[in-house]
Formats: sequence, C-alpha cells, structure tokens
Amino acid sequence: MCGIVGYVGRREAVPLLVQGLRWLEYRGYDSSGVATQDGNVLTICKAAGRIDNLVDRLNDSPIAGSLGIGHTRWATHGPATDANAHPHIGGEGVVALVHNGVIENFRPLKARLQAEGYVFSSATDTEVIAHLVASCLDRQLTDAALAADPHEPLVRAVEDALAQLRGTYGLAILFRDYPGVMIAARLGSPLVVGMGEEEHFVASDASPLAGHADKIVYLADHEIALVTANSLSVIHRDQGLVVHNIHTLEPAAEEVGLDGYPHYMLKEIFEQPESLRNAMRGRLSTEEGTAVFGGLNLAPQQLRQINRFVLTACGTSWHAALVGEYLFEELAGIPVEVEYASELRYRNMPLDHKTALFAITQSGETADTLAALKELKRKGIPTLAICNVVGSSIAQAADGGVYLHAGPEIGVASTKAFTSQCITLAMLALHFGRLRNLSYEAGRRIIECLQQLPNQVARALETNDIVRRIAGKYCQCSNFLYLGRQYNFPTALEGALKLKEISYIHAEGYPAAEMKHGPIALVDEHTPSVFLMPKGFVYDKVMSNLEEIKARGGPVIAIVSEGDTRAAELADDVIEIPYVEDFVQPILNIIPLQLLAYHTAVLRGCDVDKPRNLAKSVTVE
Ligand code: F6R
Repeated sequence: MCGIVGYVGRREAVPLLVQGLRWLEYRGYDSSGVATQDGNVLTICKAAGRIDNLVDRLNDSPIAGSLGIGHTRWATHGPATDANAHPHIGGEGVVALVHNGVIENFRPLKARLQAEGYVFSSATDTEVIAHLVASCLDRQLTDAALAADPHEPLVRAVEDALAQLRGTYGLAILFRDYPGVMIAARLGSPLVVGMGEEEHFVASDASPLAGHADKIVYLADHEIALVTANSLSVIHRDQGLVVHNIHTLEPAAEEVGLDGYPHYMLKEIFEQPESLRNAMRGRLSTEEGTAVFGGLNLAPQQLRQINRFVLTACGTSWHAALVGEYLFEELAGIPVEVEYASELRYRNMPLDHKTALFAITQSGETADTLAALKELKRKGIPTLAICNVVGSSIAQAADGGVYLHAGPEIGVASTKAFTSQCITLAMLALHFGRLRNLSYEAGRRIIECLQQLPNQVARALETNDIVRRIAGKYCQCSNFLYLGRQYNFPTALEGALKLKEISYIHAEGYPAAEMKHGPIALVDEHTPSVFLMPKGFVYDKVMSNLEEIKARGGPVIAIVSEGDTRAAELADDVIEIPYVEDFVQPILNIIPLQLLAYHTAVLRGCDVDKPRNLAKSVTVE
C-alpha cells in the first residue's frame, strides 16, 4: 500500500509534503517520513506511528529545501519502526527514495548488493531499490561520462535498476548530486504528476495536488518521469520518450469534516439514507419498470446475450458481491459466480464470450481487484466496475460501469459504500431482469421497494441508543457468532467483519443452519450469537436455529422486524427494524450491525477510524 508524494518548485517542500501525506494517510499509517534536497545535501526525517509523530520531529529539527519526497507506510516487509520508515537511502547517501508496492525478488538482490559492499539498515524490500539505483548510477557515470543530456545517466540508471525488479512499484527518487531533479516511476502502483506554476508534484493519487496544481498527468505502467520545477519528460520502457496526455484537474476537493460526529465511521453510517438516494438518483424509470445506466458501454443486444456473471471484489465489497449473487439469480435468472479477486487473478476459470465481469470496489484502487479485472479483460471478457471513487484505476481500466456516488468514505471500515454497492447491484439485477423475463409489474414493485429504502434506513438508525446499550452489555466478550440465511448470510459475514476490524473481537459469520456442522461447539454463555431474522422467506427456519443456540446456553441478540413478539420471547436482546422484502434486507439489516461494531469499539477504547494494521486502500497484492 503506502502513499507517496513529491514536490519540486520554488516553495519550501516540507509543509507541502506533510499536507500531501495527510491526504494519503488512508493508504497506510504505520510510519511516515520526508527527505529534502538543499544544494547537494539530502536530509531525511522519519518516524514510526502517525504523521503527528513526524511533525513533532520536524518541529524539533526543521529541514529545508524546495525539492522533496514523502511517504506514509503500510508495513509489508519489516515492522513499523523508524528504521523501516521511508525514505530509504541508497549507496553512501547518493539516492533517497520512497516506494509504494512490493518487490518480490528483494532477497537475492539484497544478498548480491551486500556482497558488493552495500550496507542495509532496514528490513524492507524498498532499501534494495535504493541501493540498486545507486549501484546502477555508479556504473552509468563511469560508462557514460560524456552523455549529452546531464540527466541521461539518471534515467538510464533507474531503467537498469527497474529492469532487475520483480513486483510492483510507484517510486519517487532524489539524487544528492543532481539538485532540482526528481525521478518518478510506476509499475502496478498508481502515480500522478501534478503541474502548477513553475512547480511539479508527484503523488499516489490526485488528492495532494488539490489547490496547488491545475493539470495532471496519469503515469502508465513502465513509465519513468523526469521532473524539474519547469519541465516534465515521460519515458516509456519500450517506446522511449512519449507524449504525455495532460488532463485538467477538477477544482480542489473540500476537506471532509466530521460535522459534529465523534468519528467518520459514525458520520458515514448516518449518511446512508442520503448515499442510497444518491445511488438511485436518475436511475429508476417507473415508466419502463426498470433501472437505466449510462456507463455500461454495451449495446442492449450485447447485454441481453450475457448469460453468466463473474463478480469479484475483496473484503466488504466481496460481501456485497455475494448479495449480488442472490439478486442476479432471483431477479434476472442469470447464473453468477462470486470470487475473491486475489483468487480469481490466478484461477484459470473457463470463460466464454457470453460471460461478463463485475469488479466491485469502493476505492477503485484495490490491487487484487484491479489485477483480476485486467486478467479477464486480457481474455476478452467485457469488464464492468461498480466503484465509488471517480477516475480511480479500476474505473479507468474497466470497459464500463456504474459509480456509487456515495461521497468520500474516510473511516477505514466500509459502511455506506456497502449499502450503496448492494442497492446498485439490486438496480443492475432489475435492469438485466427486465432485459429478460422479469415482468413490467414486477419491475415496478421492485422500484417501489428501492425507493422506500432511504426512509426505512433512517428509521433503522433510530435503534442507535438501543444498540449502544447492547454493546455495553457484551463488549467484553471475546467471541461473537453472526448468523443469517439467504440474503442475510452475506450480511452476517459483513457484520462479523465490522466487529473484528474495529473492535479486535473475534467474530465469525455463518449461514445460520450451517453452524450445526461445527461452529456450534463455540457456543457457551460468554459467546453471543447475533441472529439476522427479520420476517421473510426463511424466518421459521432461522427461528429453529435460534432455539438450537438457546438450548446450549448461548446469549442471543436478534435483529427482527418491528412487532415480532415471538423472537422477543426467546432472544436475550432484540433490535427491531422496519420490515422490508427479502431482496433488500442486507441494506437495512446491516445498519444495527454497523452500529453494534461501532459502539463496541468505542467502549473498548479502539481507534475506530484508523484500526490497527489496516489501511483504507489495499494497493499491494
Ligand atoms: C472493510 C473494508 C475492506 C474493503 C476491501 C476492499 O471494512 O473496508 O474489507 O472492503 O479492502 O476495498 P475496495 O472496496 O476499496 O476495493
């Protein structure tokens, strides 16, 4: 993962770098660091922990320079220590470098460089690149002392070094003996160059450029950018110097505030009535009894021919994909296969020309999802993205798709993106159903259900106080089970994930009936089971499963439809939510589960918006 930023211009680099790192903190927050160049001096400052630790160090020992690079880290190789924080130094201080990605062959390279006398001071894979660039530069300077362009040896050295790497990288590099020059390079990790007045920025995404640059260049894989205050050249590994496309940067995004909420996660949970409205805006046609989408980029005849969907995603988005499986099968009669992106990318799944892929992602930057999409695209399968972040890598790589319009999701635990993904999948299932056998009346009825959802979600949010009390009762438990059937099976998985990731309590989601085949052994008086059992198709079946848990002394928290007295008699705690049809239940039922995870984490003193070991955007494999 990790976020990288660079600046070259006339202004002091450090304040801009630190500001940029704060924008990129969603990519990792284990440590951070900056390096600047002032004349022929490279100075580095770095600190384990949050960016504030780095700022404290910079306040104690300020560093100057109008050329600099910065990094916020999500640890892959080596723990979150000062020594492993970036930037890393190459050679005897000739190169300073920041890296986003993973170098798979770093061990043999490290052994070779150590044998050549290079001294390593970290456990990272990145330090190998720094020494490798230094070593290649050494060779270039001896071989090509007469190069016409003074920067040519730098580019050649970087090219030589990159040619030896296996893995992924977004890089920004400073050279001690070349003031005023930065080199950036990418393969598999996003990197952009922002263009301002006599200054350039390099960053993992456009957010640090906000307010500073009005033009942007998106670097492609295998491209190297040579950047000075007044110039930008882009060199492709195979094509040499290339013409880079310059795009206009949208006006600066407003920094998203908390609006009086104590945490972004809670704010985003409460935004769901609005984010659902935004997902549906302009997409439901009562007249035609269907949903309409402008960006699928496939003709109706092509869409009609699709007879199988592969849905791929990671984490919460994968849970939404499971909801999508039920939706497409029920509403559209189309077979669906749901696969983790990290598995799909290496599977040799038989595919034919009637299969289409949906990649589901909030950030649009998840490395595995992007790689799976590219692999299927390479095989000629139409690829569609369901994505929140406009212009993200997955949105750009897909043939077409649908934006969620959920607005920025800042809390690391995904909440509003999940419900927006589910409602978007419901609209897509309606769309594909209406291209097949779903009747106009059925389409109209589905639209009515969808349109009522924002208000019903608002009512479900009124359970907040009850849920907080229940969280207080169980927050010291070490294990939870989450159980539901059909549409509520993925909801159970998602509820368990929310609790795990922000409160660090072990939780397992299971199909309610399947728990008899093993997990029931976990049940005792200290292991609460959260039952998803609103009125619906499988209500009586789930009720039997609840009895099985009660017979073994396990406490039960039941999420039920308003007025369900039968469940209230058996369960220890009950959360009542409005009744909705089965196919939209995940959108409503996840609300109390999000709140339960949130309040439990707060009561346990956890860092809700930045849980340990996680990052908002997972850009490594
Ligand atoms: C959990 C969570 C993660 C993400 C996963 C995929 O709350 O946020 O599991 O869902 O990393 O991320 P996207 O949707 O950005 O591809």
